[in-house]
Amino acid sequence: MNNFVNGFSKKNKLEKIDWIINNHFHNNKKAKEILFSYLNDDSSIQNLHDEFIENTISNFYLPFAVAPNFLINGKYYTIPMAIEESSVVAAASKSAKFWAKLGGFKTTILGVEKVGQIHFFYNGSFKKIKSFFKEISNDIIKDLKPITSNMEKRGGGITSMKLIDMNKKIRCYYQIFVKFNTIDSMGANFINSCLEKITETFKFYVEEKNFLDSVSEKIDFVMSILSNYTPNCVVKAGVNCKVKDLEKNSELNDSKFVENFIRAVKISKVDNFRAVTHNKGIMNGIDSVVIATGNDFRSVEAGIHAYASRNGIYSGLSNAYIKDDSFYFDLIIPISIGTVGGLTKLHPLVNWAHNLLGNPSATQLMQIIAASGLAQNFAAVKSLVTTGIQKGHMKMHLLNILNQLGADLIQKNEAIKYFKTNPVTFVNVREFLNKK
Ligand code: MEV
Repeated sequence: MNNFVNGFSKKNKLEKIDWIINNHFHNNKKAKEILFSYLNDDSSIQNLHDEFIENTISNFYLPFAVAPNFLINGKYYTIPMAIEESSVVAAASKSAKFWAKLGGFKTTILGVEKVGQIHFFYNGSFKKIKSFFKEISNDIIKDLKPITSNMEKRGGGITSMKLIDMNKKIRCYYQIFVKFNTIDSMGANFINSCLEKITETFKFYVEEKNFLDSVSEKIDFVMSILSNYTPNCVVKAGVNCKVKDLEKNSELNDSKFVENFIRAVKISKVDNFRAVTHNKGIMNGIDSVVIATGNDFRSVEAGIHAYASRNGIYSGLSNAYIKDDSFYFDLIIPISIGTVGGLTKLHPLVNWAHNLLGNPSATQLMQIIAASGLAQNFAAVKSLVTTGIQKGHMKMHLLNILNQLGADLIQKNEAIKYFKTNPVTFVNVREFLNKK
């Protein structure tokens, strides 16, 4: 069947659904029902979702959960998490409770700098363009005022702007590298608007001041865009306690625990097969809070993974060591998020998540997210070096298997009891249900 379509976005929602069901599902009634079952009965919510993106035909739900008992810098938080993976919230909650008894998470902001770049090509001398850039810099800043003045009133704005010679990487390539403080907003729209305006002003003065003095001299602007790599918008989260307190904990009475925990973290520093999985565990905690608070998890992911490679090899983001009889475990990561703008007020559940956290500032939210990442990493590595990951994971996954096999409530309760002491596998669960 030829499924090419013109003007799809011009169809209304029902027409779009009908086209899809006809063309991709042979008019299957059930396929249509599934889409409708995820639409929200509250039209104000549905209209919002319809307008977030183009071609909305339904909603995609993720479970929305909370992990309580996060003690961060002396204050308790109940952290909202949106994630589909069975064991993540349970692990975060367990880890939070564990560290609450040992002083909780200590977090600090190490920087809040955001970055934007204007990439262009110029075939003249660096000296000439540098002196021209200097000459028009004040006009560039003046022309930006309609965009920057509000942000400046809030204490933010452009903090520096410089021209960089990139000829060594690509011939004739230059960058205008701009640093920003965007206060409580993630800042993507603000940064991109500033960059596009700078480009416009730059082009204007190139003409106005006859900058190009021969026909062969050329300047070409390629693109103006923020960078999602923010190595100076960074947060640190850490936990520490006496080694004996860690070992005293009933579950961890294996004296090898601390040693193997530190070894596991060290392995993530030198082996990138392990580093990626180690960091994936951290991202379980980070992404779920980033999503629940309406932030852009793709930009956070991209930035964090680039940061993990900043020394030339991709390595684990957390550190674990012993100093003076104490165990230290910490994480330093860039997180560029916002608590105003974007979806934060617009999406009722996201807004609810911000309320749950006490409407944090962007820097407070960065610290909460980092603590969640560290908690998750602690839970994962702790399981890996003690019981193994499958015990906890399959316990949580049991409900997914039971649902997949169509178990009713009575069967589910009996299975939960039975599989407390028996290994959870798909085959075992199926056999258990068949015997019932
Ligand atoms: C699973 O989602 C995450 C882990 O693989 C992380 C890790 O191995 O550290 C358990």
